Amino acid sequence: MALISEIDYGTPAVKSDKLVELTIDGATVSVPAGTSIMRAAMEIGNHIPKLCAMDSLEAFGSCRLCLVEIEGRAGTPASCTTPVAAGMIVKTQTPRLKALRNGVMELYISDHPLDCLTCAANGNCELQTEAGIVGLREVRYGYAGENHLDDKKDVSNPYFAYDPSKCIVCNRCVRACEEVQGTFALTIDGRGFESRIAAGQAEDFFDSECVSCGACVQACPTATLSEKAVFDIGQPEHSVVTTCAYCGVGCAFKAEMRGDELVRMVPYKDGKANHGHSCVKGRFAWGYATHKERILKPMIRARISDPWREVSWEEAISYAASEFKRIQATHGKYAVGGITSSRCTNEETYLVQEMIRAGFGNNNVDTCARVCHSPTGYGLKTTFGTSAGTQEFDSVDDADVIVIIGANPTDGHPVFASRMKKRLREGAKLIIIDPRRIDLVRSPHVEADYHLPLKPGTNVAILDAFAHVIVTEGLVNEAFVRERCEPAEFAAWASFVSEPRNSPEEVEKVTGVPAETIRAAARLYATGGNGAFYYGLGVTEHSQGSTTVIAIANLAMATGNLGRSGVGVNPLRGQNNVQGSCDMGSFPHEFSGYRHVSDDAVRSIFETIWGVTLEKEPGLRIPNMIDAAIDGTFKGIYIQGEDILQSDPDTKHMAAGLGAMECVVVQDLFLNETANYAHVFLPGSTFLEKNGTFTNAERRIQRVRKVMAPKNGYEDWEITILLSEALGYPMHYKHPSEIMDEIARVTPTFAGVSYAHLDEVGSIQWPCNDKAPNGTPIMHIGTFTRGKGKFVLTEYVPTDERTGPRFPLLLTTGRILSQYNVGAQTRRTANVVWHEEDLLEIHPHDAEQRGIRDLDWVKVQSRSGETTLRAKLTDRVAPGVVYTTFHHPLTQANVVTTEFSDWATNCPEYKVTAVQVSTSNGPSEWQEKYREMSEHNSRIAQTLDAAE
Ligand code: SF4
Ligand code: SF4
Ligand code: SF4
Ligand code: FES
Repeated sequence: MALISEIDYGTPAVKSDKLVELTIDGATVSVPAGTSIMRAAMEIGNHIPKLCAMDSLEAFGSCRLCLVEIEGRAGTPASCTTPVAAGMIVKTQTPRLKALRNGVMELYISDHPLDCLTCAANGNCELQTEAGIVGLREVRYGYAGENHLDDKKDVSNPYFAYDPSKCIVCNRCVRACEEVQGTFALTIDGRGFESRIAAGQAEDFFDSECVSCGACVQACPTATLSEKAVFDIGQPEHSVVTTCAYCGVGCAFKAEMRGDELVRMVPYKDGKANHGHSCVKGRFAWGYATHKERILKPMIRARISDPWREVSWEEAISYAASEFKRIQATHGKYAVGGITSSRCTNEETYLVQEMIRAGFGNNNVDTCARVCHSPTGYGLKTTFGTSAGTQEFDSVDDADVIVIIGANPTDGHPVFASRMKKRLREGAKLIIIDPRRIDLVRSPHVEADYHLPLKPGTNVAILDAFAHVIVTEGLVNEAFVRERCEPAEFAAWASFVSEPRNSPEEVEKVTGVPAETIRAAARLYATGGNGAFYYGLGVTEHSQGSTTVIAIANLAMATGNLGRSGVGVNPLRGQNNVQGSCDMGSFPHEFSGYRHVSDDAVRSIFETIWGVTLEKEPGLRIPNMIDAAIDGTFKGIYIQGEDILQSDPDTKHMAAGLGAMECVVVQDLFLNETANYAHVFLPGSTFLEKNGTFTNAERRIQRVRKVMAPKNGYEDWEITILLSEALGYPMHYKHPSEIMDEIARVTPTFAGVSYAHLDEVGSIQWPCNDKAPNGTPIMHIGTFTRGKGKFVLTEYVPTDERTGPRFPLLLTTGRILSQYNVGAQTRRTANVVWHEEDLLEIHPHDAEQRGIRDLDWVKVQSRSGETTLRAKLTDRVAPGVVYTTFHHPLTQANVVTTEFSDWATNCPEYKVTAVQVSTSNGPSEWQEKYREMSEHNSRIAQTLDAAE
């Protein structure tokens, strides 16, 4: 295996239908008009020396190394900034050019330490390579004069270092931060010889605006900006392309290795979701894979109060299987179930649901999408006929009006946010509907045209008001609706939204957003060109989550913003494979491809292939399983890669349910919070240790490739097979590719998917079948999956969770850039330096009324429970609203969330909890008790050897 190297064409590709023909070094080349000479030369494999150019950045023309001669033109223009012209005759190698380049390179090298042999970048340094290409053999200027060789290093960032002595001031890092990442953290400080890169006004990278995306490090042609791991481990020798296991953007990375050690994750330019960009999590936060707290041996215990006992795989599997069989024999076959993981691969998820349906013989399978995007599935299936987003990420490049509702892309989906910001800097308009002032409301060179800071829980009201404006002001795209949608349903909807109670003036009373702002924003969406909705959990995690998704779909249909690039309804999925886990049949009522278990024809496909009779009644959802456990009818659960105790609402209720079960089997990397209630712990494998596929938020199926052997001994799919066999339902897959082959055989939308096909084309967006052999980037072109689009009435129903004298504030929750979900992985990386604890954001006005100062400990109480954490005073939240993250288990944010959930899907109402906040001296009684119990429950008995 070798290091995968990608071609750098020097300047970005140009989109143009017009081709221009020219001659370069005697060869004829034809390229799109507007292409640079440098890129045209590279198209025919002719590398022109360069230092300041790279194809992810606009040409800058500063290093003067890429000079060429053009027949009929005076001088030696820079090939990176000179566009091609028809009939041009270009020479890239002449004695004059060689002498000029030599002189330029000599100047660079004269102020550069000549420590190549001991430099971390040795062998992987563009300056070194280009000096070789230019043919520089001698440097006439010594180090006697002024130089920068003693400039101080900045090692403040946990993952990369800045060594100014090696900087050639090529500006690539500054431009990468601006153009690719959109953070504008870097500047060139000083002029001429004094010029140096500076992280904003701050003293070092850590204290600057830098968000550690790594784009500057990747852009740097020298060792000036380098990953610290390269210093520690050495230059990588071989690499494998795989997919990030954090969020639903699905960035492709080259995992670069030295021996069997991972040196760095480098974003892959050919990755269709990220185009070579990354965020701090995927790029740097993979150290959890080798964290000392990772559990590598299976463990069992008879009671959860016992210490864990390490056992062999055989013993753990046979114990778990015998427990499940005993429970089913005693309490009936419905007394057990399982939860699939949106962190695991499609293949692993498919196997878990297969084991439950065929091995347990019931449909008690659910997934963590229950608590995040299940309303997306329901809402989009009802209106369009498919439970998935309509677009590809690239579509945002064609959007004219971007509406973000209930999402915080710069924190939750950072790589896509960078793309979106680029489009916004180009002039697209922005509407943000969010109770909190997220970063995109105002950030460098991006400002929302309208921010609608609505009261939590009033999404449906505001979207109905949008619809009211669109219908009553004659802004409906009549032609689209006539041709593409069910007429009767549209008429009923139009009449409903036109009612005065849905007018912006009435809705202002409910949402707190001025009517004029609602009107202006609605008009902009309907008339501003291509309008695209992007939404997140701030839409779905409500008692009206499904209604809100439907309301967005209605608006998109009414304005004709569907079926082409630049428009659409785009759910920003949370976890890396939440789309995939839903696609794979993780819900109790659906087989893969969203087909109902009661459908005899579909069931018979699976019965034939699995050789069993399957249940036609849907099984239990997660909340039902927990309720049934408390009632004493549900006794055993298999949980793969999911920490329901921390991530699901109403922690005390969840704890009571898990505590009531007789056999809880947890398969995970760490002893997570749920494992406090487990009887069997099966060590899981990381994404670096397995083969499979993930499906991202744009339905893009991408390969996950094994980079190293599983430290626990097995890939997760292999563990499910062991358990299934012990249960008496043997499976015969030898490799995840065989599982995918079966998925393709039984799932029409996956019919054309195979590992060979994925390897050939890189990635595929489903549906992929005979009609769309290479997948479907944009859905519903010409017609909806369900035929005609269906408008559905979206009556605003206030949540039962109301503020009142006892609980006067509304708590809403979210996440931040450096941490991920329950933090099990990111808390075990250096990312903790950016977020050591969850804080409660509270408006200074509310804080003052309660005598709360910045960073004081506060008690947050709801009718479900109470917790304590420290307060952060900020006007990012409106008066009356408080906000926190739930990345740290001891925060116990979900102790206060309630049992309310979406009417259609049971997705919990995380985003609205009525609370009171008051000063506190420290952790609540529950937190103290929980901490003690957690320490107690994670004891591992000494092995005999160790004890002796
Ligand atoms: S790491 Fe990213 S955000 Fe930080 S300075 Fe570099 S490009 Fe900018
Ligand atoms: S730090 Fe690297 S990329 Fe930035 S100006 Fe210096 S050499 Fe160029
Ligand atoms: S944006 Fe998401 S998928 Fe991409 S690197 Fe960051 S966490 Fe990974
Ligand atoms: S590469 Fe063209 S001027 Fe630097």
